[in-house]
Amino acid sequence: MEASSPRARSTTLSPYALHVDDRFEIPQEALKPLFPALADGEVPSYDVHIAPIVKRYCISCHRAGKDSNNYFMSTYEEILTTGDQKDDNVIAGDPNSYLLQVIQGTPIPDPQNPGENLIGVMPPRGISSRMRSTPLSVGS
Ligand code: HEC
Repeated sequence: MEASSPRARSTTLSPYALHVDDRFEIPQEALKPLFPALADGEVPSYDVHIAPIVKRYCISCHRAGKDSNNYFMSTYEEILTTGDQKDDNVIAGDPNSYLLQVIQGTPIPDPQNPGENLIGVMPPRGISSRMRSTPLSVGS
């Protein structure tokens, strides 16, 4: 009896399986990581690590003229100072900051309307696998 054939194929699906489908092309740009991997102990920088995520996943809604609770994310300053919930969106060192909760899949309940959410999960239409694998860290 022959030992396992060298042609045996793994049935494990690659997360990039979709990209092998050559009926359409994905722009090279879209396949690149959003930012270089963080080195051990490297502190994330807004310009290098955060801004690319915001541009890709948030800015389409979080700018003037769009429905977004007046939360504008065009600049670092705006991210820290705008929004109907501006005092709770980003609190230094606080992992319960609303922004951190909603991007990790936890909506913020509305204290005025039990059963309703003040803020749903972000981005609202779900998170692509690429975003889920993006290392987001608040630091220690
Ligand atoms: C498709 C549009 C859309 C996208 C994309 C989107 N948001 Fe939102 N966001 C909203 C809307 C609409 C609200 C108002 C609250 C709600 O509807 O849940 C909101 C509210 C928020 C709030 C609360 C603002 C406040 O002060 O009340 C935060 C924080 C937030 N979004 C973070 C993000 C982040 C971070 C991203 C990107 C990862 C993102 N959102 C992507 C539409 C969007």
